[in-house]
Amino acid sequence: MSTTSKAANSDGKLLVLTPGMGAVATTFIAGVESVRKGLSKPIGSLTQMQTIRLGARSENRSPLIKDFLPLADLDDIVFGGWDVKPDNVYDACVHAQVLKSQDLDPIADFLKTIKPMSAAFEQKYVKKLDGPNVKKFETKKDLADQLREDIRKKKEETGATRAVMVWCGSTEVYQSPSECHMSIEAFEKGLENNDESIAPSQLYAYAAIKEGVPYANGAPNLSADFPALIQLAEKNGVPIAGKDFKTGQTLMKTILAPGFKTRMLGIRGWFSTNILGNRDGEVLDDPDSFKSKEVTKAGVLDTILQPDSYKDLYKDLYHKVRINYYPPRGDEKEGWDNIDIFGWLGYPMQIKVDFLCRDSILAAPIVLDLALFLDLASRQGKSGIQEWLSFYFKSPQVEDGHVQEHDIFIQHFRLKNTLRVMGGEEPVTHLSENYDSYK
Ligand SMILES: NC(=O)c1ccc[n+]([C@@H]2O[C@H](COP(=O)([O-])OP(=O)(O)OC[C@H]3O[C@@H](n4cnc5c(N)ncnc54)[C@H](O)[C@@H]3O)[C@@H](O)[C@H]2O)c1
Repeated sequence: MSTTSKAANSDGKLLVLTPGMGAVATTFIAGVESVRKGLSKPIGSLTQMQTIRLGARSENRSPLIKDFLPLADLDDIVFGGWDVKPDNVYDACVHAQVLKSQDLDPIADFLKTIKPMSAAFEQKYVKKLDGPNVKKFETKKDLADQLREDIRKKKEETGATRAVMVWCGSTEVYQSPSECHMSIEAFEKGLENNDESIAPSQLYAYAAIKEGVPYANGAPNLSADFPALIQLAEKNGVPIAGKDFKTGQTLMKTILAPGFKTRMLGIRGWFSTNILGNRDGEVLDDPDSFKSKEVTKAGVLDTILQPDSYKDLYKDLYHKVRINYYPPRGDEKEGWDNIDIFGWLGYPMQIKVDFLCRDSILAAPIVLDLALFLDLASRQGKSGIQEWLSFYFKSPQVEDGHVQEHDIFIQHFRLKNTLRVMGGEEPVTHLSENYDSYK
């Protein structure tokens, strides 16, 4: 079992790098520090709070995931990142208005020490955003080289032995892969030629993978979801994952839809609308950025409900998703769902969900879990797309030819079985005949 090798495996500091130090990234950083100081609990984080059953139930072995696997300790995490805005993490937290001063004040001195590095940014990729903390460049290759240099310097400065990167930057305009995304050579040529289809998030992903740093994408933009960077990740032995943190409304959708389907209840329509007023909401007010989000949000029901196999139940389902920028709400988003379902003999029923959530409170533990699991995956020699991390994403990145899995219960099952195998244990099947003690 791996617990014996825990110290050796996770020795040294882990640098968690976030391109984008807005609401999500700063809520994550402040949360980790608050937990380290014993002021809060890491609610929502599987790596910190969840147990994992090993063997048959009767064996009574259910350690915490963090005691079973050699994950980095919170005390060994150091932070770094980039942002277009020059604010230190404390000021950015105050601006984001997610955490209250009673939670920020005791850790203010620490948060003030973390300042964003200058960003690789061009406004045409995030139209509703601007700021002074931006790198100068001739070619996109220069920009990528500067980011690689930043990674090396930050590791040295913080004394970290390893790093991971989680994109917490704004949602860029919608793009589908083009010619330059098809191979490593074409992509590197595109960097030299300032190819329009290479957006900043792709530069961060490229820089990370070149530096051997695992990369996760918390937004819906392409970033590392195209052949060139997937090939590079495999070639360099770097694990990657994406896209778009699964938090508010999509989290609810992927919890509810599998339940309706297991009971063979039909669905005629699912109307989802949101109001939110944070900077993310403002960026998504631009139709080109919203298009990126719409694509990741819209896909989830089809793969869960399989309308081709269940024509009587789901083939006419009308699915609509709306996001409305409404400044008074800040980060305290409200997501409404009206679900028109039907049952025995086709009789209609309605379900209304009104989720008054807090976006960054739901996203912050995901950043932590992804950072720790990707670091572990890297140390265990895993590379390329980590489908077992689909649990955390609205639009899970999968191998070519694989089908995305959106059902949160199947995602969770796969995640935990992968962890069991990573820790040298048998996967759990839930078939009693598979366990000796039941025979
Ligand atoms: N909060 C959630 O629940 C949630 C869920 C899913 C996805 N996301 C995505 O996570 C991302 C972050 O969300 P947020 O609420 O923190 O947004 P935010 O607007 O508060 O923060 C994003 C930050 O990224 C910075 N940025 C943009 N482009 C950059 C670049 N090229 N380099 C460096 N910095 C850059 C912006 O200046 C901003 O400070 C968004 O893309 C959002 O869509 C959030």
